[in-house]
Amino acid sequence: MSSSNQTLRLGSTAPDFQSDSSNGPISFHDYIGDSWAILFSHPDDFTPVCTTELGAFAKLEPEFAKRNVKLIGLSANNTDSHKAWIKDIDEVTGSKLSFPIVADPERKVANAYDMIDYQDATNVDNKGLQLTIRSVFVIDPKKKIRTILSYPASTGRNTAEVLRIVDSLQTGDKYRVTTPINWVKGPAVSDEEAKTLFPKFRIIKPYLRLTPLDLEE
Ligand code: BEZ
Repeated sequence: MSSSNQTLRLGSTAPDFQSDSSNGPISFHDYIGDSWAILFSHPDDFTPVCTTELGAFAKLEPEFAKRNVKLIGLSANNTDSHKAWIKDIDEVTGSKLSFPIVADPERKVANAYDMIDYQDATNVDNKGLQLTIRSVFVIDPKKKIRTILSYPASTGRNTAEVLRIVDSLQTGDKYRVTTPINWVKGPAVSDEEAKTLFPKFRIIKPYLRLTPLDLEE
């Protein structure tokens, strides 16, 4: 485990750790392997916003898997709590949560990743110890941190935005491009717009559209 006072920035190596999780012991860098990873913390098991978030991430897991991204949750609760709560999450949200949730009761990983805030005195456990905030770390296969998001306990995240960030990073890496505000992966021109722009436009497949470029008069 790296020291807890190391400042993590975009481009930092994600601190490695060994921990127990809902799926058994985890060695973080080994778990990532050649994939990307989303390490994300929540404040507390058996709480409403966290239940909706973890269910939403679990339902979106196939989309992350398509992009070679592994999910891994974290909170200060223990593994028994995580395992019992996962049953509730699946029941309430219709998910089948299978990714590991790290058990970090001593806040070792939370401190290494600075997943604790200054402001929310209500986000503490029954011993007054600070609970984790809603952090998101997007980590690439070289174990470099590529995005850091921090949300307060009061505000649930947006899973589509996390997926959009992955798409932007992977597209940028592949084509050496940058993506503008509100960019989402997909055709930049809708079929309807294309029909007006390109009179001879044909849809071969939903993902394959052709037009001759004999547009000059
Ligand atoms: C929640 O998930 O609903 C929650 C957890 C901790 C503090 C505030 C809200």
